[in-house]
Amino acid sequence: SHELRTPLTVIKGYTETLLDEQNWQDPKMAERILTIIDKEAERLSRLLKDLLDLSQIESSKGVMKKQKVDLKNVVEEAVSLLRGHSEAKNLEVNLIIHGHELRNIWGDPDWLLQMFIDILENAIKYTPQGGRIEIKLQEKGKELLAAVKDTGIGIPARNIPYIFERFYRVDKGRSRRLGGTGLGLAIVKHILEAHGGHVTVESSVGVGTTFSVYLPLAPVAV
Ligand SMILES: Nc1ncnc2c1ncn2[C@@H]1O[C@H](COP(=O)(O)OP(=O)(O)OP(=O)(O)O)[C@@H](O)[C@H]1O
Ligand SMILES: [Mg+2]
Repeated sequence: SHELRTPLTVIKGYTETLLDEQNWQDPKMAERILTIIDKEAERLSRLLKDLLDLSQIESSKGVMKKQKVDLKNVVEEAVSLLRGHSEAKNLEVNLIIHGHELRNIWGDPDWLLQMFIDILENAIKYTPQGGRIEIKLQEKGKELLAAVKDTGIGIPARNIPYIFERFYRVDKGRSRRLGGTGLGLAIVKHILEAHGGHVTVESSVGVGTTFSVYLPLAPVAV
């Protein structure tokens, strides 16, 4: 697809510029060109990782390594892995837990971590400096609800039905500046499906967004 071809074209084009026109003899010019090549190579490698993740989940739906997982630990790990990003933007990140016992779900901890990283990464990326992110864990019937709420730019209602599609991004220009490929939520959707879970999105432009992730609770006996 063109998402893969674009960074390759850029890399190829600039490499040729550097070789053909002997631009490498001008160190400033060479540095500028190499910086672009480096950035595009980085984007390409991220894109390939995401695509490999997606095809792996799709082909192995039944064989996730499922076990009893305390979702609080998973969420805490995601928050701490992304702390550098949230602190760089001066965002307040709070984890709120309702109840103590029943936050165990049946799932693959690695994929669940990946899922919360993707959702939290978005909350951080699409929330302006000084904003707030709140993650609430709460039992809802036979499911555990993990709600990730941000005070970010929001998503227009007409775009919400498409955000879980591969490569879909609400504002192409802005999203490109912020980096990323538009695969994060496609991966989230697949991981959730493999866990028998589901997600709902509520958003208000300029106010914020809440992703509500529902996962089946682990049977009490296990
Ligand atoms: N919390 C959020 N607030 C505002 N917009 C969001 C939020 N989460 C997702 N979006 C919108 O949904 C689109 C799709 O999200 P997705 O995570 O799939 O892609 P991405 O973040 O653009 O790129 P990637 O996750 O691959 O780095 C985003 O481009 C953005 O427009
Ligand atoms: Mg994302």
